[in-house]
Amino acid sequence: MTVVLSGFMGAGKSTIGRLLAEVLGVPFVDIDQEIELRTGRSIRAIFEEDGEERFRRLEHDVVRSVVAGEVAVVALGGGAIEHAGTRVALEGVVSIHLEVSYEKALQRVQHDPNRPMLLRADLREVYERRQLLYTETAVLSIATDARAPREIVHDLHRWLTSSHLGAPDGGGPTRSN
Ligand code: S3P
Repeated sequence: MTVVLSGFMGAGKSTIGRLLAEVLGVPFVDIDQEIELRTGRSIRAIFEEDGEERFRRLEHDVVRSVVAGEVAVVALGGGAIEHAGTRVALEGVVSIHLEVSYEKALQRVQHDPNRPMLLRADLREVYERRQLLYTETAVLSIATDARAPREIVHDLHRWLTSSHLGAPDGGGPTRSN
């Protein structure tokens, strides 16, 4: 079954997704990269030249086609979850929320010129607004602030290959619904 990783910028979706895909033996798809591949343009250029709304529509089309395709581990962009149609597209997949605090997220990504959302003056509000959407759409939430990607992948792998009835002990994932 396709596993989708969601969460704010800097949550580690791409790093963890790549490792998890390796462990599960399935392809990894990064939605941002897939958008760039399909359009031949960078995320930054799409934001700058066409605006965020157009980016969101493109993002939605790509998410929909990727989750309908072959089994994979998929890393969403941090804002994909804001599109109602994308939330519907996620209903048939295992969606996992990688939690990151606002402070940690900024610490990890603040100098990246390829993240146009960092220019938003209301970024903290955007972060707050998305938290409910991440948890509502996820079957599982896992904290990432103080943990190494490999530890998280280990827990996720254990959870995914178990009966899904309980979370591993001690610092492991917690079900969000
Ligand atoms: C965005 C996050 C980015 C990328 C785009 C918009 C957002 O992905 O999709 O810059 O709205 O939070 P990452 O979460 O992989 O950085």
